Amino acid sequence: MTEEEIQNFLISLKRYGEENNIPNISLKNAKYLRNLISKNKSHKILEIWSANGYSTIQFALEIKKYNGKITSIEFSQLAYEEAQDNFEAVWVSDIITHYFWDAREILPLLEESYDFIFIDGLKKNHSIF
Ligand SMILES: C[S@@+](CC[C@H](N)C(=O)[O-])C[C@H]1O[C@@H](n2cnc3c(N)ncnc32)[C@H](O)[C@@H]1O
Repeated sequence: MTEEEIQNFLISLKRYGEENNIPNISLKNAKYLRNLISKNKSHKILEIWSANGYSTIQFALEIKKYNGKITSIEFSQLAYEEAQDNFEAVWVSDIITHYFWDAREILPLLEESYDFIFIDGLKKNHSIF
């Protein structure tokens, strides 16, 4: 996939989210976070709540440059499956471990350590972490 095709894919995915009430991060925030990840050369990212994978893909495209990896969690089956398709469409599936799980159940079971953690879920539930 060319850089132009990837950019067009991200634009379409963002538009799809806006049209379907999927609370994807803004492009401004995606750029800010990608810059932070890139500056710190974060290799192991944990994303708590992927929805249809827009933010996951933004991060994956950054860390793919230096062989980083992402773990992301989502408990809506529709969102999880959409994300899986989107990861494949932009060729980043190989660097994403994607759990179809309730984050509250799986987080205590994760044994790896991460150097960048992005929590992007229902804000009222954040106190559980
Ligand atoms: C704000 S959206 C994530 C948006 C995504 N980070 C992006 O920018 O593209 C929040 C997502 O968290 C999921 N979610 C909420 N609570 C969850 C839980 N306990 N475990 C797993 N997923 C959860 C919802 O299904 C929803 O898709």
